[in-house]
Parts: sequence; C-alpha cells; structure tokens
Amino acid sequence: MQAYLELCNVGIEFNTGSGPFRALQQVNLKIAKGEFISLIGHSGCGKSTVLNIVAGLYSATEGGVILDGREIAGPGPDRAVVFQNHALLPWLSVYENVALGVQQVFRGQKTRAEMREWVEHHLELVHISHARDKRPHEISGGMKQRVGIARCLAMQPKVLLMDEPFGALDALTRAHLQDSLMEIHASLGTTVIMITHDVDEAVLLSDRIVMMSNGPAATIGEIMPVTLPRPRKRLALAEDPDFVHARQQVLQFLYDKHKFPGAAAA
Ligand SMILES: Nc1ncnc2c1ncn2[C@@H]1O[C@H](COP(=O)(O)OP(=O)(O)OP(=O)(O)O)[C@@H](O)[C@H]1O
Ligand SMILES: [Mg+2]
Repeated sequence: MQAYLELCNVGIEFNTGSGPFRALQQVNLKIAKGEFISLIGHSGCGKSTVLNIVAGLYSATEGGVILDGREIAGPGPDRAVVFQNHALLPWLSVYENVALGVQQVFRGQKTRAEMREWVEHHLELVHISHARDKRPHEISGGMKQRVGIARCLAMQPKVLLMDEPFGALDALTRAHLQDSLMEIHASLGTTVIMITHDVDEAVLLSDRIVMMSNGPAATIGEIMPVTLPRPRKRLALAEDPDFVHARQQVLQFLYDKHKFPGAAAA
C-alpha cells in the first residue's frame, strides 16, 4: 500500500511527578490517502496521545510520523483536529469561526470574495448555513460540532483528526452527524483518523479499525478492515450479517483479548 501518512516505531514517555511513564511503544501504522481509520481501545490506553503526536502537539520520544513525504515536526494547518468539546471562539459568530481558519490558510491565495464563497460552501456542507450569524452559546452541541468540522474541512487539511467528535451528543444527533461525515468523506475523499468508543460508529464509518492494546506501553493490537460496500446505510446495515460480524469482532477484541485492566480482579 502507498502510505500517505505513516507512523514509524512511534513511542512516547512522559515525565510525571512519580517518574517517567511510558504511554506508547512501537506504534506502526500506514494509512492510504482518503482512508477512514478509527482508533478504538480502552480508556487511557493512548488513543489521544497517538492523535496528538500526529497533530504535532506532542513529540514522540522514539520514531516519527511522515505525512505526504515529510516528517511532522509540530502542529500545522495540514492536520486539523476536531475535539469532543468543540473549541469554538465564543465571541465570534459561526461564520467568523470558520472564516478565521480560512483567512490563515488561504491568505494571498484567494480573494476576499473567494474566501467568503469558500466559507459559505463549507457551512452548507455541514448543514449549518441557517445559523451562520449565531454565536456558539446560541446553538446546540450538535450544531457546534458541525461548525468545528466545517472549520477543519475549510482549512483543506491533508488529514482530519477527530478525538471522540460525537462523544458528548445524544444518539439521534450523533447519527445525523455520522451520516454527514460519511457524505463528506465520500465527496471530498479526506483522509480521516477518528477516535471513538462506539463500536457501531467505528464499523459504520471506517475502512479499517485500529484496535489498541491496553497501556502502559500500549501499541496496536489488531487492525480490522471493514469491507462493507459504500455508500453505507445504517438501517439496512443493522441486520446485515457482515456488519454484525464486524462489530462482534471488535467487541471480542475489547472484551476478551484485552480485558479492561480493572476487570481482571472482578
Ligand atoms: N501530558 C501527559 N503527561 C503525562 N501522562 C500523560 C499525558 N498525556 C497522556 N498521559 C497518559 O498516557 C496514557 C494515555 O492517555 P490518553 O489520553 O492518550 O488515553 P486515551 O486512550 O485517549 O483515553 P480516553 O479514552 O479516556 O480518552 C494515560 O495513562 C495518561 O495518563
Ligand atoms: Mg482520549
């Protein structure tokens, strides 16, 4: 496979009050352009740490990350991050929150009119145009997540990094956003790494599910390709034997092979 994003022997040790703590060890992963990857594993295993290393917010103690032929040396607009708790600027409108990133990335490349059109296009993409002049406190949690996604996509990143993007939402809003994300991924071909605790979400959205072993010194346990044809329809899939089998395999990994550390004594 031609790797667009590659994690090579990534390891990280944190210095903590009680001494060094090894969070990750020998993490190797090759991701193709346009692939949708989910990262799944027990709480505290190191998923966010992997994402933060790819984002350039943490630097690996060993190994490194190569994106489109270049080693990552710090944060950059080519890797946009959507967090669980939307990080919108409260004093800016929905439109302005998206425009801010666009101005940073496309300054000198797009005219003001082109930038305006670009922002409007991305607001439409996530179905939030109707709230363009509202401030973050005036919109719902699901709407804020849509704005966060629009802001990231509008920066045209090489990779979209998502850390439990829908974790704080109710089931119905979550389903709508998953559908939007599937549509966006199909139309833009964005390369995505998404952390999730939701097995169904991982199977529905992913090309491959990367399952991490428990920490400390966590690494990749198994990688499961999801070969279900696209476009995927959640209702039809619910009873599809391949879907049921895929989710069963992920659950088995989580519950049998790598029991939650605290569960061993139970
Ligand atoms: N900056 C840091 N300093 C020290 N230890 C850290 C730091 N960041 C993460 N860790 C430790 O590394 C381990 C992995 O943390 P991480 O946040 O990546 O887990 P996670 O898989 O994202 O968990 P969750 O599913 O609960 O979000 C944890 O034991 C955590 O305490
Ligand atoms: Mg996390």
